[in-house]
Amino acid sequence: MFSSLAVASTVLLGLAASSSAGIAHSRATTPFDGQYIDVNSGNDATEWWWVQAGAPAAEGEFPPSLHVTFYQGYPISALREVAGGANAPENYIVINGAFPNGTVFAYNLVASSSLVTSSGGVISGNWNGAGSFTNSLSKFTLTLDSPEVTGTLSITSNAPHHFGCNTTAGPYFTSAIPSGASLNAAEEIFYNQLGWATSQPGGSASVDVTLDGTRFKFHGQGYHDANWMPQPIDKFIDDWYFLDAQVGPFDLSAVWAKISGATREFTTGFLQRDGVILQNQCSVLGSKTDDFVTITPYGLGFDEPSGVNVMKGFILEYTLADGDEYRFNVSGESLVLDQSIYHRWVGPAVGGRVGGKQYSGIVMYDWLNPSLTPYNG
Ligand SMILES: *[C@@H]1O[C@H](CO)[C@@H](O)[C@H](O)[C@H]1NC(C)=O
Ligand SMILES: *[C@@H]1O[C@H](CO)[C@@H](O)[C@H](O)[C@H]1NC(C)=O
Ligand SMILES: *[C@@H]1O[C@H](CO)[C@@H](O)[C@H](O)[C@H]1NC(C)=O
Repeated sequence: MFSSLAVASTVLLGLAASSSAGIAHSRATTPFDGQYIDVNSGNDATEWWWVQAGAPAAEGEFPPSLHVTFYQGYPISALREVAGGANAPENYIVINGAFPNGTVFAYNLVASSSLVTSSGGVISGNWNGAGSFTNSLSKFTLTLDSPEVTGTLSITSNAPHHFGCNTTAGPYFTSAIPSGASLNAAEEIFYNQLGWATSQPGGSASVDVTLDGTRFKFHGQGYHDANWMPQPIDKFIDDWYFLDAQVGPFDLSAVWAKISGATREFTTGFLQRDGVILQNQCSVLGSKTDDFVTITPYGLGFDEPSGVNVMKGFILEYTLADGDEYRFNVSGESLVLDQSIYHRWVGPAVGGRVGGKQYSGIVMYDWLNPSLTPYNG
């Protein structure tokens, strides 16, 4: 099933009813990579464990990558509709990626149930009939075990796990809200109920899977985080970018989001070097004079399959609290997913401290644009 574009695009279009999620655990008792909210067929909540690994392209080839997401519920309303509406499975694993020759693949492994538990500091997730994972925070390993896809992906973490806002107190973006600001309904969900926990900000990764009988093996860099929210993303976000890269001694990530009906734009920036955090912040764009990030798309291309204009890359600029500046130029080489509202690329990344030694590495980034806001370069 390597014709991912057709296959994957059947995974997008429609709507869903709404209701809200219950809280499964109080914050104090939820393990870092554990189950944060209750997702079931009677609510519209979603929670997922996202894992990706990629490696720089060899000469004349494309960067190999494997992206695996363990889902409960649906991140986009349309996905539930396409997957069967009221009969859509609640638990499934989505797999995407690209071979070194540039051919992309996609799979959707349906599980009969899922369970995420914690024991002795290790989180275990089991998606019955499809796959499983374990996470000790220093090491993440997933196993795929379905009729079409088998094998493993593991990441040995080289940086501290973290929430998005330079706090160990909680996984929400609440601290980014300007004091005294009143939030619209979408912002209320975005800032106070969209959870994000990054367990592996970066680390060496090993992939060894078999896809419909084809062995796919590489060593590269990996990343793993988890998200949860009471409503699908398209109910409260118009447009967003998420980027993660490993460049020489640096691991970095950044988010830009345009929240529905809001004028405030939101960003996060994470940058660490050799295990030392240089920046870990979330903020409203333009609200800070230091300790912030800018995420600027560049270039203009037309993506035929999805029928929309796309960027060729991004410039990520980190201004630290002490004024130091770091800049990274990342660009897309493998287009792993292309749908009108969702694109994902893997490609080269170069950068470092401005005026300092420059390194090269690999980036994986996503553009999610439920509002179909045009990009014009
Ligand atoms: C690319 O590589 C994969 C895996 O080896 C293979 O299945 C596929 O047919 C190749 N594509 C082309 C266009 O050669
Ligand atoms: C917050 O950021 C500083 C650097 O600006 C870093 O030293 C510290 O570890 C960070 N704390 C958390 C909880 O991420
Ligand atoms: C970023 O890299 C691309 C090529 O990968 C190059 O064309 C572009 O000029 C670079 N931009 C900056 C600002 O360095």
